[in-house]
Amino acid sequence: MTEVEEMQDQKYQGPHLVLIPLPLQGHLNPMLQLATLLHSKGFLITIVHTQFNSPNPSNHPNFNFEPIPDGLSDDRAAAMDIIMLVAALNVAYKAPSEELLRRLVLENPYGPIKCIISDAMMHFTQDVASILNIPRVVIRTSSAISFAAFTAFPLLKQKGCLSVQDHQLKAPVPELPPLRFKDLPSNGLATCDPDTLYHLVTHMVDGVRAASAVIWNAFDYLERTTLTKIQQDFPIPNFPVGPLHKHASSSSSSLLPQDHSCIAWLNKQAHGSVLYVSFGSLVAMEESALVETAWGLANSDQPFLWVVRPGSVHGSDWVELPEGFKEKTKGRGLIVKWAPQQEVLAHPAVGGFWTHSGWNSTLESICEGVPMLCSPWFGDQRVNARYVDHVWRVGMELENGFERREIEQAIKTVMVRNDGQEMRARIKDLKENADRCLRKGGSSYESLNSLKDYILSL
Ligand code: UDX
Repeated sequence: MTEVEEMQDQKYQGPHLVLIPLPLQGHLNPMLQLATLLHSKGFLITIVHTQFNSPNPSNHPNFNFEPIPDGLSDDRAAAMDIIMLVAALNVAYKAPSEELLRRLVLENPYGPIKCIISDAMMHFTQDVASILNIPRVVIRTSSAISFAAFTAFPLLKQKGCLSVQDHQLKAPVPELPPLRFKDLPSNGLATCDPDTLYHLVTHMVDGVRAASAVIWNAFDYLERTTLTKIQQDFPIPNFPVGPLHKHASSSSSSLLPQDHSCIAWLNKQAHGSVLYVSFGSLVAMEESALVETAWGLANSDQPFLWVVRPGSVHGSDWVELPEGFKEKTKGRGLIVKWAPQQEVLAHPAVGGFWTHSGWNSTLESICEGVPMLCSPWFGDQRVNARYVDHVWRVGMELENGFERREIEQAIKTVMVRNDGQEMRARIKDLKENADRCLRKGGSSYESLNSLKDYILSL
């Protein structure tokens, strides 16, 4: 047997799981990390994926990849806002996924399917699993705290609270302490249709309720109260096995090439001196916000590594930085299009992270003990930022959008002032507890073993 045949042979062994990710960076990463973890536990993994934003099979030689035929073209997908896109995915991929899964069941190329593990946002998989009589487990790739806010949507809608007047934004939401109206995931999506959002969220939540079990990219120490409440409200097996990125790097599932040259630059910077700035894979800001960001960074006098992704600014592929910015920041700033984020956050030169509070970014920062400056845009990011600032107190939120003086002061607070030192001490404690959860006997470690036993019992 050749080496390749041997690898194929090894691949085609073990109880068979079909994983169905949502094709967005922040969802692909944790799903493929879960796949790596389950593969290490002896499962045979097939990734059923869209051709739009497809993961790269050659980065994952241990998994089978089955593209869903048809669906959305890149052009159609690119023309939609994020909520419309996820809603459209759920319509466009239902029939072709059913056809593909039916073939996998009938032709059985990799062995019988124990269960599918679907991103909860791909809620159409519930109908497909029911039709084909396959158990369906879901993974929520984002926080439990944001899921709790999503479950409150029907009640909030009934009370007319999903969109409130500007003057009410800072008022508390009585049903969801410690959230304020501005922290609700329905905010920051001005261009999206509120009914499409409402239906997407309620279908997602209903799909979790109908699932056989739910996997969380969460660890007990961080979100215990919410996880306990969810377990009561959703009496199906719950498995908090996170943080998932600790098991596999997100480099292999990156949709954009990561610019590793920034590591050599970081090597030359002083310990804890650099602010890392990245707003994830989806955020598109107004040009005026980009200008304020640039001057806030320039005036802070701190070294920075700034990810300016193509598409970061509405309506343009690339961005012009304000005149004079380069001169003012010469020697202490580096801009890249996409970074190896986990490696950057783990670098000793990095002392702070200005983030959009996506859940992967939040967990990655916690796991490296890096305090955060938060500028949440939409959805779960708002809930995550509120907890980072107000509950875990490991960062601070920029409360008034993008204004250069506020940015400058906030950067100085996180990077050099006493408040920032206190955030740093608290986030080190969270980091240690995340490590503890993953070690033998820890909550995530045990939860993973329970998940394995559970799947084998199906
Ligand atoms: C989206 C939503 O915005 C987020 O709120 C939700 O929690 C998940 O889906 P995204 O905006 O991409 O995700 O943010 P985030 O969850 O932080 O995920 C970004 C991922 O890309 C991280 O794993 C990060 O390590 C990676 N990344 C980011 C890079 O590899 N390089 C970069 O330069 C920036």
